[in-house]
Amino acid sequence: MMRIVSGIQPTGNLHLGNYLGAIRNWVRMQDGLGAGDQCFFFLASLHAITVHNEPAQLRANIREMAAALIAAGVDPARATLFSQADVPAHAELCWLLNGTARIGWLNRMTQFKEKSGKNREGASIGLYAYPVLQAADVLLYQATHVPVGEDQKQHLELARDVATKFNTDFGVELFTLPEPIIPPAAARIMSLRDGTSKMSKSDPSDMSRINLTDDADLLVQKIRKAKTDPEPLPASAEELAGRPEARNLVGIYAALADETVEQVLARFAGQGFGAFKPALAELVAESLRPVKSRLDALRADPAELDRLLAIGAAKAREAAAPTLDATYKAMGLRW
Ligand code: TYM
Repeated sequence: MMRIVSGIQPTGNLHLGNYLGAIRNWVRMQDGLGAGDQCFFFLASLHAITVHNEPAQLRANIREMAAALIAAGVDPARATLFSQADVPAHAELCWLLNGTARIGWLNRMTQFKEKSGKNREGASIGLYAYPVLQAADVLLYQATHVPVGEDQKQHLELARDVATKFNTDFGVELFTLPEPIIPPAAARIMSLRDGTSKMSKSDPSDMSRINLTDDADLLVQKIRKAKTDPEPLPASAEELAGRPEARNLVGIYAALADETVEQVLARFAGQGFGAFKPALAELVAESLRPVKSRLDALRADPAELDRLLAIGAAKAREAAAPTLDATYKAMGLRW
């Protein structure tokens, strides 16, 4: 029996990295569910507050991201879709697991180092403890599979470490060890301005990323201006080594076309970016068009979004209760 669990922070737009790295896999796994399998997808609203957010903006972002997920194919009738803040068990389990997680483990987290930058002393406690909440998110539902991009792999290893240590320390077989599911072609979509840093919501330049909401003209402009090199495309994937921008654009094409990098190169080998970029822009626009039009319809009805999130939260609270209760009991806090 599969229990698929994953989350996304409700910060601004859904970008192509999120979509190809994670959300498309969420939808594929949801569409392939067998009898007894379950999917839990959530807005990581409690993770969002580890940096300051204006309340009105956060509220808007939660709805906007819920709409984007549904537009991208998450079906609230088949997957339990909710905001983390509506299911208190996430915060509760996080606190219980804080007794198990080790400072040394958190000190190794590269995301904390990147996000706190030079001002580590000034970072919030939440930003530091962030991976413990993420462990709680998946362990709470006994997740077996967690579809994510490459950048979340280390956090999931920590979740496995927490689960293993808890089970050992308390002599119980309580938590299932979650398996990350990382897409081979789109594990790490890079910035359009710099092929060595990942496409990210926090990049100050909007030209660095493709948002699911960008209109066709803007998409064409972003791809036309994307950083490349003067060489034509090679015939083999190995020859893309040392050409991070070229590799990224070919990777995006391959992921969207559901082809291998080799298949894409077989078609474009010997051609320059003057020919490749318009073909890529067309493919991106065509792939995003249906998502964008569904998103426009969903945005028009925020009450319906709230209703769907409330239904999801009620289902999630029910699913989370037995594991949370068993955790309190295993620790001697309830009987
Ligand atoms: P977040 O909100 O940064 O990203 C959501 C998902 O998108 C993936 N992703 C990418 N994949 C490929 N290329 C990129 N450039 C790229 N950028 C983002 C991420 O890997 C992620 O799968 N901590 C998580 C949210 C979270 C979570 C969880 C995930 C909270 N609890 C429990 C899984 C399970 C985060 O900030 O993702």
